[in-house]
Amino acid sequence: MLVAVLLLLLATAHVAAVAGEDSSSGGNHHGQCIEKEKEALLRFKGVVDPGNILSSWTNDRTNQNCCTWRGVTCDNQTNHVVEIDFSTVYDDNTDGHDYAIGGEIGSSLVELQYLNYLDFSGNNFSRIPMFIGSFENLVYLDLSRNPISGTIPPQLGNLTKLQFLDLSSSSDHDQMIADNSEWFSRLTSLRSFRLTNANFTKAGLQSFKVAPSLSGLEVSGCLLPK
Ligand SMILES: *[C@@H]1O[C@H](CO)[C@@H](O)[C@H](O)[C@H]1NC(C)=O
Ligand SMILES: *[C@@H]1O[C@H](CO)[C@@H](O)[C@H](O)[C@H]1NC(C)=O
Ligand SMILES: *[C@@H]1O[C@H](CO)[C@@H](O)[C@H](O)[C@H]1NC(C)=O
Ligand SMILES: *[C@@H]1O[C@H](CO)[C@@H](O)[C@H](O)[C@H]1NC(C)=O
Repeated sequence: MLVAVLLLLLATAHVAAVAGEDSSSGGNHHGQCIEKEKEALLRFKGVVDPGNILSSWTNDRTNQNCCTWRGVTCDNQTNHVVEIDFSTVYDDNTDGHDYAIGGEIGSSLVELQYLNYLDFSGNNFSRIPMFIGSFENLVYLDLSRNPISGTIPPQLGNLTKLQFLDLSSSSDHDQMIADNSEWFSRLTSLRSFRLTNANFTKAGLQSFKVAPSLSGLEVSGCLLPK
């Protein structure tokens, strides 16, 4: 009798342990990714990827869940892709640029309407795409240490939830041009802003209003109007 009770206790303890494992793994437990968002990620894979960073982004039968792909984080309730982070790619190794992704930031990302965190720092992208303005939920945007030149798209001003924006570069060769500065004044949630090597000659600074929320501002190497 005693043995039976003991066995029963052991059995329930085991069940509890298994159940506990299941619920405590909540943080690592990946929900199924949303089909439309997976297709968008697969199309984004068209970027230049000499280091094969995106090798886990495949639609193999064993790898259907894009929430487990490298650099991708999904919301644990809704399963929407909420984060894309390739910042570590650069830090992973000493001459990081071999592992950079680059070219054009593909517009298929627009499908990721719930994205709130985008970090492509230390990669090889050359342009800030205009569609960046459609990521209405973006809170964090880091495009630093990319060889970005060309116009800063005024659509950036649509990102009214943005708190962190880093557009600083690592090289003096790459110059960004601001056609106007009105977009900056619309970033009313901004707390931290870094910018280097931007040409504001044409933009002027008349409408350059700083959000009251801003507590960190680092601007260097920029050309300002006389
Ligand atoms: C879901 O994620 C949030 C924050 O990202 C976390 O606080 C929460 O505990 C998570 N819930 C589960 C069930 O893992
Ligand atoms: C970065 O992109 C340029 C073309 O845009 C290419 O010539 C260069 O090889 C790329 N560098 C790396 C490290 O991928
Ligand atoms: C973003 O802002 C531009 C003007 O700055 C506007 O024309 C556009 O409709 C807005 N919406 C999106 C999704 O970019
Ligand atoms: C900065 O922009 C102005 C006007 O857009 C242009 O005339 C000037 O050549 C630019 N300066 C540099 C150093 O590229």
